[in-house]
Amino acid sequence: MVTWMVASAIVIALYILIYYNILKGVPCRSDTSLKGKTAIVTGANTGLGKATALDLARRGARVILACRSKERAEPAVFDIRKKSGNNQVIFMHLDLASLKSVRAFAETFLQSEPQLHLLINNAGTGSIGLTADGFNMAWGVNHLGHFLLTNLLLNRLKQCTPSRIIIISSLTYCMGKIDFSNLNTPGEGFVSGLRNYSFSKLCSTLFARELANRLEGTNVTSYAVHPGFVFTEAFRELGLLIKLVFVPIGFLFFRTPTDGAQTAIYCAVQEGIEKFSGRYFADCEVQKVFPHARDDAVARKVWEISERMAGLCSH
Ligand SMILES: NC(=O)c1ccc[n+]([C@@H]2O[C@H](COP(=O)([O-])OP(=O)(O)OC[C@H]3O[C@@H](n4cnc5c(N)ncnc54)[C@H](OP(=O)(O)O)[C@@H]3O)[C@@H](O)[C@H]2O)c1
Ligand SMILES: *[C@@H]1O[C@H](CO)[C@@H](O)[C@H](O)[C@H]1NC(C)=O
Ligand SMILES: *[C@@H]1O[C@H](CO)[C@@H](O)[C@H](O)[C@H]1NC(C)=O
Repeated sequence: MVTWMVASAIVIALYILIYYNILKGVPCRSDTSLKGKTAIVTGANTGLGKATALDLARRGARVILACRSKERAEPAVFDIRKKSGNNQVIFMHLDLASLKSVRAFAETFLQSEPQLHLLINNAGTGSIGLTADGFNMAWGVNHLGHFLLTNLLLNRLKQCTPSRIIIISSLTYCMGKIDFSNLNTPGEGFVSGLRNYSFSKLCSTLFARELANRLEGTNVTSYAVHPGFVFTEAFRELGLLIKLVFVPIGFLFFRTPTDGAQTAIYCAVQEGIEKFSGRYFADCEVQKVFPHARDDAVARKVWEISERMAGLCSH
């Protein structure tokens, strides 16, 4: 009995030690105000996006929650306004699984909002299936939709310098393999879903890099971010069996959305990180990525293919 109690106490103490020292991650300590600044956060109705939007609103920014569902976004708008005391928090419709919707969002935004200082490309999915335009869902939403969105808003960002683009990537980029031959195949099941997700996040990492190359000297900078492993609604997309395994792990060992949002917030507000434009951040620190995620030739190729797939090509 006593042995059991001592053993349990040790396990709990160890857990608390590990949680607070390793798993919880590093907070953004900058107190930069964002009064007079405008930010867009995609997928801001829940999870990391909502936690990020709340932080930006608390700093005084005007925050546009770019979400696909009005019903899911309005409670978040209400909640963020209440918690931040900032009424400049508004919903605009954006479905990243439709290039037409991305264009419509950009048009509405550019007509109604004179400024843009922060673009946070946060929305993400590991869902299978195809987008409205027939692209693999993970690639279409996580990468291509954001690629088009960013390009359509780029001139406005250039007019509002210094401005920043934050691209939420993921450590799973490591497993990503560049393969443009299957952009139109739907993923199916956990393994191909993970493969498709990893490829999309590799593209996101390379996109941040290529953006930085193209934006050199403009005072618009871009950053890729790994938020850590975070317990969010992302888990709802998993199958029942996988859920049974991952939900307890997520609950015990993953970060809360507020802790997970810290690196995105850091990249949005921290002074003096412009020299790291194009790089990948985790735990509020620039990180070295594997060679396949810092290859400028591949980054350019991803850009060119994306341009073509998004219908942005002038040639
Ligand atoms: N959680 C993690 O451990 C983890 C780790 C690494 C990277 N990330 C990345 O962090 C980002 C946020 O993830 P999360 O964990 O906060 O996930 P989440 O709770 O599932 O939230 C994802 C958000 O993206 C939105 N979204 C999905 N498909 C969309 C579409 N077609 N158009 C517009 N919005 C769409 C969702 O909207 P609905 O509510 O309408 O579905 C939701 O607002 C993602 O890019 C994810 O890949 C997460
Ligand atoms: C999606 O996954 C399938 C199965 O693993 C793979 O054949 C295909 O190349 C992947 N497509 C993308 C765009 O990642
Ligand atoms: C970028 O910012 C620096 C420092 O504020 C400024 O001197 C420079 O003129 C700016 N460049 C552009 C292209 O706006």
